Amino acid sequence: MTTKHKIMILPGDGIGREVTDAALRLIHWLADHRNVDFEIQHGLIGGASVDVHGTPLTDETLSDAFECDAILFGAAGAPQYDHLPFENKPERGLLRLRKELDLFANLRPAITFPSLIDASTLKPDFITGLDILILRENTGGVYFAEPRGTKILSSGEKTAFDTNLYSSSEIKRIGQLAFALARQRQNKVTSVDKANVMYSGVLWREEMTELYEKEGQGLAMEHMYADNCAMQLVRNPKQFDVIVMDNLFGDILSDCAAMLTGSLGMLPSASLGHPDTNGRYRKALYEPVHGSAPDITGKGLANPLAQILSLAMMLRYSLDRKADARLIETAIDTVLKRGYRTVDIMSHGCHKTTTAGMVDALIDALNHLTHQT
Ligand code: IPM
Ligand code: MN
Repeated sequence: MTTKHKIMILPGDGIGREVTDAALRLIHWLADHRNVDFEIQHGLIGGASVDVHGTPLTDETLSDAFECDAILFGAAGAPQYDHLPFENKPERGLLRLRKELDLFANLRPAITFPSLIDASTLKPDFITGLDILILRENTGGVYFAEPRGTKILSSGEKTAFDTNLYSSSEIKRIGQLAFALARQRQNKVTSVDKANVMYSGVLWREEMTELYEKEGQGLAMEHMYADNCAMQLVRNPKQFDVIVMDNLFGDILSDCAAMLTGSLGMLPSASLGHPDTNGRYRKALYEPVHGSAPDITGKGLANPLAQILSLAMMLRYSLDRKADARLIETAIDTVLKRGYRTVDIMSHGCHKTTTAGMVDALIDALNHLTHQT
């Protein structure tokens, strides 16, 4: 019997469209070969939605998002929208979706594929076998808290301000997920904050300490200042297992972690809400960590692997198709071993390929892998 999975596709802007098209080809391959049925709903977000509807996310698209099993998102933003008022910028569409669906947990795994060791700017010893998970709080902190805005002082001086507000329950729920994820991995949690400078950091540290005392049995936990964490990520990244942090630190440090894997084009992510009673994430958005990359848009140069790895995360966390997730990850490993490289991960002696060429190679590998089994 096949189960029908309702997937919402939101390509957004720039290379978001190209990498989402690439992932769609794999979705079609799965539908044709793996006894799985998808209902695909296409929607607009970001600048693409601004162009048609004058807003980066319509209420209709938002209510459709509530109805689907999972969302595959590409990227938001492009220079032609820079002049728009702040609340109408393409990025606001994605942020509203995260907030309204209460996708409070953003998982960003940084895993080094053996064949890409040379694509990293770090020495092989430091990244061989790397497998860390950045867990970013996704719906609070400076991204959303009020008050925020601009103000002109009586002197005529312009000011602008944001608020990094966290409540204990927000910290606790992301902390609990960090513990649960660490238990499926190496049982180690690093909690990141700036408790030496920020009140929100003091509360973060207090809550994480209390949670660890109550619920941390069998785990190791350490606290680390965010600036030190940035340094440790490039000094000795393999010391980490799960790193949990607030929204802004998570945004910044996950880009840093991406480069350990060789390219921002390799890092997938999952934004999850609360799981249902079967442990399945029905409210979930999957997206590559890279952005819309206007400089390479439309040239066929984009690396589709972060988006395809995001699809694998969707199969694992939302659709309960773990074998298919592993199959896609194995196919990626296979094509990398065969030397296929988009330009961002190109190294000497490999075959330089386009976005579509990478997908062709993947489909070829998938056909091989499934005929052997
Ligand atoms: C990310 C992106 C987004 C963020 C932007 C596009 C709003 O950089 O997902 O990391 O800052 O969260
Ligand atoms: Mn980012």
